[in-house]
Amino acid sequence: MRAAWISIAALLLSASSRAQSFTFARDIAPIIYQHCATCHRAGEAGPFPLVSYEDVKRRAPLIAKLTRSRYMPPWLPEAGYGDFADSNRLTDAQVRMISDWVAQGAKFGNLADLPAPPRFTSGWQLGPPDLIVEAKQAFALPAAGTDVYWNFIFTPPIDRLRYVRAVEVRPGDKRLVHHAAIVVDRSHWGREQEKSPGAGFPGMELTNRRSVFDPDDGHFLFWKPGGAPYVEPDGLAWRLAPGDDLVLNTHLRPSGKPEQVRPSIGLYFTDKPQTRYPMLVQLEHDGALNIPPGARDFMVSDDFKLPLDADVLAVYPHAHYLGKVLEGYATLPDGKRKWLIRIPDWDQNWQTVYRYKDPVFLPKGTVVSMRFHYDNSAANVRNPNQPPKLVSAGNHATDEMGHLWLQVLPRAAGDRRVELDEALMKHRLEKYPDDFRAHMILGALLLARANAGAAVPMAEAALRIQPKDAEARNLLGSAFMGVGRVPEAIVQFQQAVALRPDFVNARFNLGNAFARSNRWQEAIGEYNRVLAAYPNDGLAKQKFAQALVQYGDALLKDGKRSEAAAQYGKALSLDPKNEAAKARLQNR
Ligand code: HEC
Repeated sequence: MRAAWISIAALLLSASSRAQSFTFARDIAPIIYQHCATCHRAGEAGPFPLVSYEDVKRRAPLIAKLTRSRYMPPWLPEAGYGDFADSNRLTDAQVRMISDWVAQGAKFGNLADLPAPPRFTSGWQLGPPDLIVEAKQAFALPAAGTDVYWNFIFTPPIDRLRYVRAVEVRPGDKRLVHHAAIVVDRSHWGREQEKSPGAGFPGMELTNRRSVFDPDDGHFLFWKPGGAPYVEPDGLAWRLAPGDDLVLNTHLRPSGKPEQVRPSIGLYFTDKPQTRYPMLVQLEHDGALNIPPGARDFMVSDDFKLPLDADVLAVYPHAHYLGKVLEGYATLPDGKRKWLIRIPDWDQNWQTVYRYKDPVFLPKGTVVSMRFHYDNSAANVRNPNQPPKLVSAGNHATDEMGHLWLQVLPRAAGDRRVELDEALMKHRLEKYPDDFRAHMILGALLLARANAGAAVPMAEAALRIQPKDAEARNLLGSAFMGVGRVPEAIVQFQQAVALRPDFVNARFNLGNAFARSNRWQEAIGEYNRVLAAYPNDGLAKQKFAQALVQYGDALLKDGKRSEAAAQYGKALSLDPKNEAAKARLQNR
Protein backbone atom coordinates (compact mmCIF):
# COMPACT_ATOMS: atom_id res chain seq x y z
CA MET A 1 0.00 0.00 0.00
CA ARG A 2 2.72 2.38 1.08
CA ALA A 3 4.89 1.50 -1.94
CA ALA A 4 1.97 2.25 -4.26
CA TRP A 5 1.47 5.63 -2.67
CA ILE A 6 5.17 6.49 -3.15
CA SER A 7 5.15 5.54 -6.80
CA ILE A 8 2.08 7.68 -7.45
CA ALA A 9 3.77 10.60 -5.71
CA ALA A 10 6.84 10.06 -7.88
CA LEU A 11 4.67 10.07 -10.98
CA LEU A 12 3.01 13.31 -9.93
CA LEU A 13 6.38 14.86 -9.25
CA SER A 14 7.81 13.96 -12.62
CA ALA A 15 4.64 15.12 -14.33
CA SER A 16 4.90 18.49 -12.64
CA SER A 17 8.59 18.84 -13.50
CA ARG A 18 7.76 18.07 -17.10
CA ALA A 19 5.37 20.98 -17.17
CA GLN A 20 8.12 23.30 -15.96
CA SER A 21 10.13 25.11 -18.63
CA PHE A 22 13.89 25.31 -18.48
CA THR A 23 16.40 27.82 -19.81
CA PHE A 24 20.11 27.57 -20.50
CA ALA A 25 20.96 30.64 -18.44
CA ARG A 26 19.16 29.56 -15.29
CA ASP A 27 19.09 25.74 -15.33
CA ILE A 28 21.50 24.21 -17.82
CA ALA A 29 24.61 26.41 -17.65
CA PRO A 30 25.39 25.49 -14.02
CA ILE A 31 25.33 21.78 -14.94
CA ILE A 32 27.51 22.27 -18.00
CA TYR A 33 30.01 24.46 -16.15
CA GLN A 34 30.39 22.00 -13.32
CA HIS A 35 30.19 18.65 -15.08
CA CYS A 36 31.29 19.15 -18.68
CA ALA A 37 33.49 22.23 -19.16
CA THR A 38 36.36 20.74 -17.14
CA CYS A 39 37.11 18.54 -20.17
CA HIS A 40 35.23 20.36 -22.92
CA ARG A 41 37.34 23.53 -23.26
CA ALA A 42 40.41 24.59 -25.17
CA GLY A 43 43.48 22.45 -24.48
CA GLU A 44 41.56 19.70 -22.68
CA ALA A 45 40.54 16.20 -23.70
CA GLY A 46 37.02 16.86 -24.96
CA PRO A 47 36.75 17.05 -28.78
CA PHE A 48 34.97 20.45 -28.68
CA PRO A 49 34.28 23.14 -26.11
CA LEU A 50 31.06 23.09 -24.12
CA VAL A 51 30.99 26.42 -22.35
CA SER A 52 28.87 28.98 -24.24
CA TYR A 53 25.19 28.72 -25.12
CA GLU A 54 26.13 28.35 -28.80
CA ASP A 55 28.51 25.46 -28.01
CA VAL A 56 25.78 23.59 -26.19
CA LYS A 57 22.82 24.45 -28.41
CA ARG A 58 24.64 23.23 -31.52
CA ARG A 59 24.83 19.71 -30.05
CA ALA A 60 21.75 19.81 -27.85
CA PRO A 61 20.07 16.58 -29.06
CA LEU A 62 23.31 14.59 -28.80
CA ILE A 63 23.93 15.99 -25.32
CA ALA A 64 20.45 14.94 -24.23
CA LYS A 65 21.04 11.46 -25.61
CA LEU A 66 24.50 10.95 -24.11
CA THR A 67 23.55 12.24 -20.68
CA ARG A 68 20.50 9.92 -20.69
CA SER A 69 22.65 6.93 -21.61
CA ARG A 70 25.16 8.22 -19.03
CA TYR A 71 28.03 8.04 -21.50
CA MET A 72 28.69 11.66 -20.56
CA PRO A 73 29.98 12.85 -18.18
CA PRO A 74 32.16 9.75 -17.90
CA TRP A 75 31.49 8.29 -14.46
CA LEU A 76 31.43 4.53 -14.01
CA PRO A 77 30.39 3.78 -10.41
CA GLU A 78 26.75 3.06 -9.66
CA ALA A 79 25.10 5.51 -7.28
CA GLY A 80 24.63 4.19 -3.75
CA TYR A 81 27.63 1.82 -3.82
CA GLY A 82 30.32 3.95 -2.22
CA ASP A 83 30.33 7.69 -1.54
CA PHE A 84 33.08 9.29 -3.62
CA ALA A 85 34.67 12.70 -3.13
CA ASP A 86 34.88 13.83 -6.73
CA SER A 87 31.75 12.16 -8.05
CA ASN A 88 30.86 13.49 -11.48
CA ARG A 89 27.53 11.74 -11.76
CA LEU A 90 24.49 13.73 -12.84
CA THR A 91 21.38 13.22 -10.71
CA ASP A 92 18.34 11.69 -12.40
CA ALA A 93 16.66 15.11 -12.05
CA GLN A 94 19.53 16.82 -13.89
CA VAL A 95 19.41 14.28 -16.71
CA ARG A 96 15.67 14.79 -17.06
CA MET A 97 16.08 18.54 -17.00
CA ILE A 98 18.56 18.48 -19.89
CA SER A 99 16.23 16.30 -21.97
CA ASP A 100 13.22 18.47 -21.21
CA TRP A 101 15.15 21.64 -22.03
CA VAL A 102 16.17 20.20 -25.40
CA ALA A 103 12.59 19.03 -26.09
CA GLN A 104 11.34 22.52 -25.26
CA GLY A 105 13.57 24.04 -27.95
CA ALA A 106 16.81 24.62 -26.02
CA LYS A 107 16.02 28.26 -25.13
CA PHE A 108 18.60 30.68 -23.78
CA GLY A 109 16.45 32.52 -21.22
CA ASN A 110 17.47 35.72 -19.38
CA LEU A 111 21.02 36.95 -19.50
CA ALA A 112 20.62 38.13 -15.90
CA ASP A 113 20.22 34.48 -14.80
CA LEU A 114 23.48 33.33 -16.38
CA PRO A 115 26.17 32.53 -13.79
CA ALA A 116 29.71 33.67 -14.39
CA PRO A 117 31.52 31.14 -16.57
CA PRO A 118 34.02 28.96 -14.72
CA ARG A 119 37.60 30.13 -14.58
CA PHE A 120 40.24 27.60 -15.47
CA THR A 121 44.00 27.80 -15.32
CA SER A 122 45.68 26.53 -18.42
CA GLY A 123 49.01 26.19 -16.61
CA TRP A 124 49.87 24.11 -13.56
CA GLN A 125 46.63 23.55 -11.68
CA LEU A 126 48.22 23.88 -8.24
CA GLY A 127 50.41 26.86 -9.14
CA PRO A 128 54.13 26.74 -9.90
CA PRO A 129 55.58 23.36 -8.81
CA ASP A 130 58.68 23.12 -6.62
CA LEU A 131 60.32 21.00 -9.29
CA ILE A 132 59.48 20.34 -12.94
CA VAL A 133 60.94 17.32 -14.73
CA GLU A 134 60.55 16.59 -18.41
CA ALA A 135 60.68 13.14 -20.02
CA LYS A 136 64.18 12.53 -21.36
CA GLN A 137 62.94 11.73 -24.87
CA ALA A 138 59.71 12.25 -26.76
CA PHE A 139 57.80 9.20 -27.91
CA ALA A 140 56.87 9.06 -31.60
CA LEU A 141 53.20 8.08 -31.71
CA PRO A 142 52.24 6.68 -35.12
CA ALA A 143 49.39 8.29 -37.07
CA ALA A 144 47.11 5.27 -36.90
CA GLY A 145 46.72 1.85 -35.36
CA THR A 146 45.63 0.54 -32.01
CA ASP A 147 46.13 2.22 -28.66
CA VAL A 148 49.70 2.39 -27.43
CA TYR A 149 50.89 1.95 -23.85
CA TRP A 150 54.19 3.71 -23.26
CA ASN A 151 56.28 4.27 -20.13
CA PHE A 152 58.44 7.34 -19.55
CA ILE A 153 61.11 7.46 -16.85
CA PHE A 154 61.84 10.60 -14.83
CA THR A 155 64.71 10.99 -12.37
CA PRO A 156 63.97 14.11 -10.31
CA PRO A 157 67.24 15.94 -9.55
CA ILE A 158 67.03 16.29 -5.77
CA ASP A 159 69.92 16.35 -3.31
CA ARG A 160 68.12 15.17 -0.17
CA LEU A 161 65.10 13.19 0.94
CA ARG A 162 61.90 15.04 0.05
CA TYR A 163 58.26 14.49 0.92
CA VAL A 164 55.88 14.85 -2.00
CA ARG A 165 52.39 16.17 -1.25
CA ALA A 166 51.24 16.36 -4.87
CA VAL A 167 52.39 15.48 -8.35
CA GLU A 168 50.84 17.03 -11.41
CA VAL A 169 51.22 15.37 -14.79
CA ARG A 170 51.27 17.47 -17.93
CA PRO A 171 50.96 14.75 -20.50
CA GLY A 172 51.30 16.98 -23.55
CA ASP A 173 48.35 16.99 -25.95
CA LYS A 174 45.46 15.72 -23.84
CA ARG A 175 43.63 14.32 -26.80
CA LEU A 176 46.46 11.80 -27.24
CA VAL A 177 46.91 10.75 -23.63
CA HIS A 178 43.90 9.00 -22.24
CA HIS A 179 45.13 8.36 -18.75
CA ALA A 180 48.40 7.91 -16.92
CA ALA A 181 49.73 6.54 -13.67
CA ILE A 182 53.02 7.00 -11.86
CA VAL A 183 54.93 4.27 -10.06
CA VAL A 184 57.81 5.12 -7.72
CA ASP A 185 60.73 2.95 -8.85
CA ARG A 186 63.46 2.82 -6.22
CA SER A 187 65.22 -0.26 -7.61
CA HIS A 188 65.62 1.11 -11.17
CA TRP A 189 63.57 -1.73 -12.53
CA GLY A 190 62.26 0.54 -15.31
CA ARG A 191 65.73 1.45 -16.59
CA GLU A 192 66.43 -2.23 -17.20
CA GLN A 193 63.46 -2.36 -19.58
CA GLU A 194 64.77 0.45 -21.80
CA LYS A 195 66.58 -0.30 -25.07
CA SER A 196 68.69 2.83 -24.57
CA PRO A 197 68.85 5.18 -21.58
CA GLY A 198 65.98 7.67 -21.59
CA ALA A 199 64.12 5.95 -24.41
CA GLY A 200 61.23 4.68 -22.28
CA PHE A 201 59.63 1.28 -22.84
CA PRO A 202 56.31 -0.27 -23.86
CA GLY A 203 53.88 -2.10 -21.58
CA MET A 204 50.34 -1.74 -20.42
CA GLU A 205 50.71 -2.33 -16.73
CA LEU A 206 53.51 -1.60 -14.32
CA THR A 207 54.36 -4.05 -11.63
CA ASN A 208 57.19 -2.75 -9.57
CA ARG A 209 59.89 -5.26 -8.79
CA ARG A 210 59.78 -5.98 -5.11
CA SER A 211 61.78 -9.01 -4.14
CA VAL A 212 62.19 -7.86 -0.58
CA PHE A 213 59.69 -6.02 1.54
CA ASP A 214 59.39 -2.39 0.53
CA PRO A 215 55.85 -1.14 0.96
CA ASP A 216 56.65 2.46 0.12
CA ASP A 217 54.33 2.69 -2.84
CA GLY A 218 51.22 3.21 -0.73
CA HIS A 219 49.74 5.97 -2.88
CA PHE A 220 47.72 6.14 -6.06
CA LEU A 221 49.44 8.58 -8.40
CA PHE A 222 46.93 8.70 -11.19
CA TRP A 223 46.18 11.25 -13.89
CA LYS A 224 43.03 11.53 -15.95
CA PRO A 225 41.73 14.31 -18.17
CA GLY A 226 39.75 17.04 -16.48
CA GLY A 227 40.92 16.01 -13.02
CA ALA A 228 42.77 18.27 -10.61
CA PRO A 229 45.85 16.71 -8.98
CA TYR A 230 45.21 15.22 -5.58
CA VAL A 231 46.96 16.89 -2.66
CA GLU A 232 47.92 14.54 0.16
CA PRO A 233 46.88 15.71 3.63
CA ASP A 234 49.53 16.39 6.29
CA GLY A 235 51.34 13.23 7.35
CA LEU A 236 50.51 11.37 4.16
CA ALA A 237 53.09 12.92 1.83
CA TRP A 238 55.32 10.24 0.30
CA ARG A 239 59.07 9.78 0.33
CA LEU A 240 61.24 10.64 -2.66
CA ALA A 241 64.96 9.98 -2.24
CA PRO A 242 67.81 11.14 -4.48
CA GLY A 243 68.17 8.70 -7.38
CA ASP A 244 64.59 7.40 -7.17
CA ASP A 245 62.86 7.10 -10.53
CA LEU A 246 59.26 7.92 -11.32
CA VAL A 247 57.84 5.81 -14.12
CA LEU A 248 54.88 7.33 -15.94
CA ASN A 249 52.67 4.73 -17.58
CA THR A 250 50.57 6.33 -20.34
CA HIS A 251 47.69 5.12 -22.49
CA LEU A 252 48.05 6.86 -25.88
CA ARG A 253 45.65 7.09 -28.80
CA PRO A 254 46.74 7.75 -32.37
CA SER A 255 45.19 10.96 -33.73
CA GLY A 256 45.39 10.47 -37.51
CA LYS A 257 48.76 12.16 -37.89
CA PRO A 258 52.16 11.28 -36.44
CA GLU A 259 52.70 12.99 -33.08
CA GLN A 260 55.51 13.51 -30.59
CA VAL A 261 54.49 12.89 -26.99
CA ARG A 262 56.74 14.30 -24.29
CA PRO A 263 55.12 14.60 -20.88
CA SER A 264 56.44 16.59 -17.96
CA ILE A 265 55.60 16.30 -14.29
CA GLY A 266 55.52 18.91 -11.54
CA LEU A 267 56.36 17.95 -7.97
CA TYR A 268 55.08 19.77 -4.90
CA PHE A 269 57.09 19.17 -1.73
CA THR A 270 56.30 19.66 1.92
CA ASP A 271 58.50 19.85 5.01
CA LYS A 272 55.96 17.83 6.97
CA PRO A 273 57.29 14.27 6.90
CA GLN A 274 55.23 11.15 6.47
CA THR A 275 53.68 9.97 9.73
CA ARG A 276 50.83 7.80 8.41
CA TYR A 277 51.51 4.82 6.21
CA PRO A 278 48.85 3.59 3.82
CA MET A 279 49.37 0.52 1.68
CA LEU A 280 47.95 -0.49 -1.68
CA VAL A 281 46.21 -3.82 -1.20
CA GLN A 282 45.49 -5.76 -4.36
CA LEU A 283 42.68 -8.26 -4.66
CA GLU A 284 43.09 -10.46 -7.73
CA HIS A 285 43.00 -13.97 -9.03
CA ASP A 286 44.75 -13.75 -12.36
CA GLY A 287 45.61 -17.42 -12.08
CA ALA A 288 41.91 -18.24 -12.51
CA LEU A 289 41.44 -15.83 -15.40
CA ASN A 290 40.95 -18.18 -18.35
CA ILE A 291 37.80 -17.06 -20.10
CA PRO A 292 36.44 -19.50 -22.67
CA PRO A 293 35.23 -18.05 -25.98
CA GLY A 294 31.54 -17.25 -25.88
CA ALA A 295 31.30 -17.11 -22.07
CA ARG A 296 28.80 -14.36 -21.23
CA ASP A 297 29.33 -14.21 -17.50
CA PHE A 298 32.69 -15.51 -16.33
CA MET A 299 33.45 -14.58 -12.74
CA VAL A 300 36.74 -14.04 -10.95
CA SER A 301 36.75 -13.62 -7.19
CA ASP A 302 39.11 -12.98 -4.32
CA ASP A 303 38.48 -12.56 -0.60
CA PHE A 304 40.99 -11.23 1.91
CA LYS A 305 40.59 -10.96 5.67
CA LEU A 306 42.01 -7.78 7.22
CA PRO A 307 44.42 -8.52 10.08
CA LEU A 308 43.91 -5.09 11.70
CA ASP A 309 41.55 -2.12 12.00
CA ALA A 310 41.92 0.08 8.95
CA ASP A 311 40.37 2.83 6.84
CA VAL A 312 39.99 2.51 3.10
CA LEU A 313 40.82 5.85 1.51
CA ALA A 314 40.44 5.07 -2.19
CA VAL A 315 39.71 2.29 -4.66
CA TYR A 316 40.96 1.54 -8.17
CA PRO A 317 39.20 -1.23 -10.09
CA HIS A 318 40.98 -2.43 -13.19
CA ALA A 319 40.09 -4.76 -16.05
CA HIS A 320 40.60 -4.68 -19.82
CA TYR A 321 38.01 -4.95 -22.62
CA LEU A 322 36.01 -7.97 -21.45
CA GLY A 323 35.28 -6.70 -17.94
CA LYS A 324 31.57 -6.01 -17.54
CA VAL A 325 30.31 -5.81 -13.94
CA LEU A 326 32.99 -4.99 -11.38
CA GLU A 327 32.11 -5.27 -7.71
CA GLY A 328 34.03 -4.69 -4.50
CA TYR A 329 32.55 -4.99 -1.02
CA ALA A 330 33.41 -5.67 2.58
CA THR A 331 31.77 -8.15 4.92
CA LEU A 332 32.08 -6.82 8.46
CA PRO A 333 32.71 -9.19 11.40
CA ASP A 334 29.00 -8.91 12.29
CA GLY A 335 28.08 -10.20 8.82
CA LYS A 336 26.85 -6.87 7.42
CA ARG A 337 27.88 -5.94 3.90
CA LYS A 338 29.45 -2.55 3.12
CA TRP A 339 29.76 -1.75 -0.56
CA LEU A 340 33.08 -0.33 -1.68
CA ILE A 341 32.22 0.11 -5.34
CA ARG A 342 30.01 -1.30 -8.08
CA ILE A 343 30.54 -0.62 -11.76
CA PRO A 344 27.61 -1.97 -13.80
CA ASP A 345 29.12 -1.39 -17.26
CA TRP A 346 32.91 -1.25 -17.20
CA ASP A 347 34.72 0.79 -19.84
CA GLN A 348 38.48 0.71 -19.47
CA ASN A 349 38.78 4.00 -21.35
CA TRP A 350 37.36 5.82 -18.36
CA GLN A 351 39.21 3.95 -15.63
CA THR A 352 40.33 6.04 -12.70
CA VAL A 353 40.98 6.10 -8.98
CA TYR A 354 37.96 6.80 -6.80
CA ARG A 355 38.56 8.50 -3.45
CA TYR A 356 35.98 8.18 -0.70
CA LYS A 357 34.38 11.34 0.67
CA ASP A 358 35.02 9.94 4.16
CA PRO A 359 37.41 7.08 4.91
CA VAL A 360 35.58 3.75 5.03
CA PHE A 361 36.31 2.14 8.39
CA LEU A 362 36.75 -1.63 8.35
CA PRO A 363 37.42 -3.36 11.67
CA LYS A 364 39.90 -6.21 12.06
CA GLY A 365 38.43 -9.45 10.74
CA THR A 366 36.50 -7.76 7.93
CA VAL A 367 36.66 -9.70 4.67
CA VAL A 368 37.15 -7.56 1.56
CA SER A 369 35.94 -9.17 -1.64
CA MET A 370 36.09 -8.66 -5.37
CA ARG A 371 33.63 -10.16 -7.83
CA PHE A 372 34.51 -9.29 -11.41
CA HIS A 373 32.29 -10.50 -14.23
CA TYR A 374 33.55 -10.84 -17.82
CA ASP A 375 31.73 -11.10 -21.12
CA ASN A 376 33.71 -12.96 -23.80
CA SER A 377 30.79 -13.34 -26.20
CA ALA A 378 30.51 -11.83 -29.67
CA ALA A 379 27.67 -9.69 -28.28
CA ASN A 380 30.16 -7.67 -26.20
CA VAL A 381 30.85 -4.69 -28.49
CA ARG A 382 34.18 -4.08 -26.77
CA ASN A 383 35.45 -7.64 -27.40
CA PRO A 384 38.69 -7.19 -29.39
CA ASN A 385 38.42 -10.77 -30.73
CA GLN A 386 35.67 -11.39 -33.27
CA PRO A 387 35.04 -14.31 -33.28
CA PRO A 388 35.89 -14.59 -29.56
CA LYS A 389 38.80 -16.75 -28.44
CA LEU A 390 40.19 -18.02 -25.14
CA VAL A 391 41.52 -15.07 -23.14
CA SER A 392 43.88 -15.33 -20.16
CA ALA A 393 45.61 -12.98 -17.77
CA GLY A 394 48.45 -10.92 -19.22
CA ASN A 395 49.92 -7.53 -19.83
CA HIS A 396 48.78 -6.97 -23.43
CA ALA A 397 45.60 -5.18 -24.39
CA THR A 398 44.16 -8.41 -25.79
CA ASP A 399 44.87 -10.23 -22.51
CA GLU A 400 42.67 -9.67 -19.49
CA MET A 401 43.19 -8.42 -15.97
CA GLY A 402 41.12 -8.31 -12.84
CA HIS A 403 42.51 -6.19 -10.05
CA LEU A 404 40.76 -4.37 -7.27
CA TRP A 405 43.24 -2.07 -5.57
CA LEU A 406 42.41 -0.56 -2.20
CA GLN A 407 44.36 2.16 -0.47
CA VAL A 408 44.31 0.88 3.11
CA LEU A 409 45.44 2.96 6.08
CA PRO A 410 45.89 0.99 9.32
CA ARG A 411 44.26 2.78 12.26
CA ALA A 412 46.90 2.12 14.91
CA ALA A 413 49.78 4.56 15.27
CA GLY A 414 53.06 4.01 13.48
CA ASP A 415 53.87 1.98 10.42
CA ARG A 416 51.73 -1.18 10.46
CA ARG A 417 52.14 -2.20 6.85
CA VAL A 418 54.29 -5.21 7.68
CA GLU A 419 51.32 -6.89 9.37
CA LEU A 420 49.14 -6.19 6.36
CA ASP A 421 51.78 -7.42 3.96
CA GLU A 422 52.34 -10.60 5.91
CA ALA A 423 48.61 -11.42 5.81
CA LEU A 424 48.53 -10.60 2.09
CA MET A 425 51.49 -12.83 1.28
CA LYS A 426 50.03 -15.72 3.28
CA HIS A 427 46.81 -15.24 1.34
CA ARG A 428 48.84 -15.27 -1.85
CA LEU A 429 50.38 -18.61 -0.95
CA GLU A 430 46.88 -20.04 -0.51
CA LYS A 431 46.08 -18.98 -4.09
CA TYR A 432 49.49 -19.81 -5.52
CA PRO A 433 51.42 -22.40 -3.46
CA ASP A 434 54.37 -22.12 -5.87
CA ASP A 435 54.68 -18.34 -5.72
CA PHE A 436 58.30 -17.28 -5.48
CA ARG A 437 57.73 -13.68 -4.43
CA ALA A 438 55.39 -14.57 -1.54
CA HIS A 439 57.95 -17.02 -0.12
CA MET A 440 60.68 -14.40 -0.44
CA ILE A 441 58.71 -11.64 1.24
CA LEU A 442 57.50 -13.90 4.05
CA GLY A 443 61.06 -15.15 4.55
CA ALA A 444 62.42 -11.59 4.70
CA LEU A 445 59.67 -10.57 7.15
CA LEU A 446 60.44 -13.50 9.46
CA LEU A 447 64.13 -12.69 9.34
CA ALA A 448 63.49 -9.01 10.11
CA ARG A 449 61.49 -10.20 13.12
CA ALA A 450 64.50 -12.23 14.34
CA ASN A 451 62.70 -15.49 13.61
CA ALA A 452 65.48 -16.97 11.49
CA GLY A 453 64.39 -20.51 12.31
CA ALA A 454 61.11 -20.02 10.46
CA ALA A 455 62.82 -18.04 7.68
CA VAL A 456 65.01 -21.03 6.71
CA PRO A 457 62.20 -23.22 5.29
CA MET A 458 60.63 -20.17 3.55
CA ALA A 459 63.88 -19.37 1.77
CA GLU A 460 64.40 -23.04 0.95
CA ALA A 461 60.93 -23.17 -0.58
CA ALA A 462 61.71 -20.07 -2.66
CA LEU A 463 64.90 -21.77 -3.89
CA ARG A 464 63.04 -24.92 -4.88
CA ILE A 465 60.96 -22.66 -7.17
CA GLN A 466 63.87 -20.56 -8.49
CA PRO A 467 67.18 -22.29 -7.74
CA LYS A 468 69.20 -19.76 -9.71
CA ASP A 469 67.95 -16.68 -7.87
CA ALA A 470 70.78 -14.82 -6.16
CA GLU A 471 68.43 -12.93 -3.79
CA ALA A 472 66.96 -16.21 -2.58
CA ARG A 473 70.46 -17.65 -1.96
CA ASN A 474 71.30 -14.50 -0.03
CA LEU A 475 68.11 -14.79 2.01
CA LEU A 476 68.78 -18.44 2.86
CA GLY A 477 72.37 -17.58 3.78
CA SER A 478 71.14 -14.83 6.11
CA ALA A 479 68.62 -17.20 7.70
CA PHE A 480 71.38 -19.79 8.25
CA MET A 481 73.52 -17.10 9.88
CA GLY A 482 70.62 -16.27 12.17
CA VAL A 483 70.49 -19.85 13.49
CA GLY A 484 74.27 -20.24 13.69
CA ARG A 485 74.69 -22.57 10.68
CA VAL A 486 77.65 -20.51 9.46
CA PRO A 487 79.35 -23.01 7.10
CA GLU A 488 76.06 -23.53 5.26
CA ALA A 489 75.54 -19.77 5.15
CA ILE A 490 78.94 -19.35 3.48
CA VAL A 491 77.96 -21.82 0.75
CA GLN A 492 74.76 -19.87 0.03
CA PHE A 493 76.50 -16.47 -0.06
CA GLN A 494 79.19 -17.88 -2.34
CA GLN A 495 76.55 -19.15 -4.72
CA ALA A 496 74.76 -15.79 -4.61
CA VAL A 497 77.88 -13.88 -5.66
CA ALA A 498 78.71 -16.53 -8.25
CA LEU A 499 75.25 -15.96 -9.76
CA ARG A 500 75.57 -12.18 -9.53
CA PRO A 501 79.14 -10.95 -9.08
CA ASP A 502 77.94 -7.36 -8.51
CA PHE A 503 75.65 -8.40 -5.64
CA VAL A 504 77.28 -6.23 -3.00
CA ASN A 505 74.85 -7.10 -0.26
CA ALA A 506 75.68 -10.80 -0.56
CA ARG A 507 79.43 -10.01 -0.58
CA PHE A 508 79.03 -8.05 2.60
CA ASN A 509 77.20 -10.99 4.18
CA LEU A 510 79.89 -13.33 2.94
CA GLY A 511 82.56 -11.13 4.52
CA ASN A 512 80.70 -11.24 7.85
CA ALA A 513 80.32 -15.02 7.61
CA PHE A 514 84.05 -15.48 6.93
CA ALA A 515 84.85 -13.22 9.87
CA ARG A 516 82.60 -15.31 12.11
CA SER A 517 84.59 -18.37 11.01
CA ASN A 518 87.93 -16.65 11.68
CA ARG A 519 88.75 -16.85 7.97
CA TRP A 520 90.31 -13.40 8.07
CA GLN A 521 92.01 -13.19 4.70
CA GLU A 522 88.84 -14.19 2.89
CA ALA A 523 86.78 -11.77 4.97
CA ILE A 524 89.17 -8.93 4.14
CA GLY A 525 88.92 -9.80 0.46
CA GLU A 526 85.13 -9.52 0.50
CA TYR A 527 85.06 -6.31 2.55
CA ASN A 528 87.52 -4.74 0.14
CA ARG A 529 85.24 -5.59 -2.77
CA VAL A 530 82.27 -4.07 -0.96
CA LEU A 531 84.16 -0.86 -0.32
CA ALA A 532 85.37 -0.76 -3.91
CA ALA A 533 81.72 -0.67 -4.97
CA TYR A 534 80.52 1.65 -2.17
CA PRO A 535 83.53 3.61 -0.87
CA ASN A 536 81.34 5.59 1.53
CA ASP A 537 79.26 2.78 2.99
CA GLY A 538 79.39 3.48 6.72
CA LEU A 539 78.02 0.12 7.82
CA ALA A 540 80.51 -1.79 5.66
CA LYS A 541 83.37 0.26 7.10
CA GLN A 542 82.16 -0.42 10.64
CA LYS A 543 81.87 -4.16 10.09
CA PHE A 544 85.20 -4.26 8.29
CA ALA A 545 86.84 -2.45 11.19
CA GLN A 546 85.30 -4.85 13.71
CA ALA A 547 86.61 -7.81 11.74
CA LEU A 548 90.09 -6.27 11.58
CA VAL A 549 90.11 -5.83 15.37
CA GLN A 550 89.20 -9.51 15.81
CA TYR A 551 91.86 -10.45 13.28
CA GLY A 552 94.37 -8.35 15.22
CA ASP A 553 93.40 -10.13 18.43
CA ALA A 554 93.98 -13.49 16.75
CA LEU A 555 97.41 -12.37 15.54
CA LEU A 556 98.25 -11.16 19.00
CA LYS A 557 97.50 -14.59 20.47
CA ASP A 558 100.09 -16.02 18.12
CA GLY A 559 102.54 -13.43 19.38
CA LYS A 560 102.52 -11.40 16.18
CA ARG A 561 102.39 -8.01 17.90
CA SER A 562 103.38 -5.67 15.12
CA GLU A 563 101.09 -7.35 12.60
CA ALA A 564 98.24 -7.06 15.11
CA ALA A 565 98.93 -3.38 15.61
CA ALA A 566 98.82 -2.88 11.87
CA GLN A 567 95.30 -4.34 11.78
CA TYR A 568 94.14 -2.12 14.66
CA GLY A 569 95.53 0.90 12.84
CA LYS A 570 93.75 -0.05 9.64
CA ALA A 571 90.53 -0.55 11.61
CA LEU A 572 90.81 2.92 13.11
CA SER A 573 91.40 4.56 9.76
CA LEU A 574 88.27 2.84 8.41
CA ASP A 575 86.16 3.69 11.43
CA PRO A 576 87.65 6.41 13.66
CA LYS A 577 84.91 5.69 16.22
CA ASN A 578 85.99 2.08 16.79
CA GLU A 579 86.71 2.17 20.53
CA ALA A 580 88.17 -1.35 20.66
CA ALA A 581 90.82 -0.46 18.10
CA LYS A 582 91.60 2.78 19.96
CA ALA A 583 91.96 1.01 23.32
CA ARG A 584 94.20 -1.73 21.95
CA LEU A 585 96.51 0.76 20.25
CA GLN A 586 96.81 2.79 23.47
CA ASN A 587 97.53 -0.26 25.65
CA ARG A 588 100.43 -1.42 23.57
C1 HEC B 1 36.50 13.62 -18.08
C2 HEC B 1 36.39 14.45 -19.23
C3 HEC B 1 35.00 14.71 -19.82
C4 HEC B 1 33.91 15.20 -19.18
C5 HEC B 1 33.79 15.63 -17.72
C6 HEC B 1 32.86 15.29 -20.16
N1 HEC B 1 33.33 14.83 -21.36
FE1 HEC B 1 32.25 14.70 -23.08
N2 HEC B 1 33.86 13.85 -24.00
C7 HEC B 1 35.09 13.66 -23.46
C8 HEC B 1 35.97 13.03 -24.43
C9 HEC B 1 37.43 12.69 -24.21
C10 HEC B 1 35.21 12.82 -25.58
C11 HEC B 1 35.66 12.18 -26.89
C12 HEC B 1 35.88 10.71 -26.76
C13 HEC B 1 34.65 9.89 -26.67
O1 HEC B 1 33.62 10.25 -27.30
O2 HEC B 1 34.68 8.89 -25.97
C14 HEC B 1 33.87 13.36 -25.28
C15 HEC B 1 32.83 13.34 -26.17
C16 HEC B 1 31.61 14.01 -25.98
C17 HEC B 1 30.59 14.14 -26.97
C18 HEC B 1 30.68 13.63 -28.40
C19 HEC B 1 30.41 12.15 -28.44
C20 HEC B 1 30.25 11.66 -29.86
O3 HEC B 1 29.71 10.56 -29.96
O4 HEC B 1 30.67 12.34 -30.78
C21 HEC B 1 29.57 14.85 -26.39
C22 HEC B 1 28.28 15.30 -27.03
C23 HEC B 1 29.97 15.11 -25.03
N3 HEC B 1 31.21 14.57 -24.81
C24 HEC B 1 29.18 15.79 -24.12
C25 HEC B 1 29.51 15.94 -22.79
C26 HEC B 1 28.63 16.53 -21.81
C27 HEC B 1 27.25 17.08 -22.09
C28 HEC B 1 29.29 16.50 -20.62
C29 HEC B 1 28.77 16.95 -19.28
C30 HEC B 1 27.44 16.55 -18.90
C31 HEC B 1 30.58 15.92 -20.87
N4 HEC B 1 30.68 15.59 -22.19
C32 HEC B 1 31.57 15.74 -19.89
C33 HEC B 1 35.48 14.00 -22.17
C34 HEC B 1 34.63 14.48 -21.19
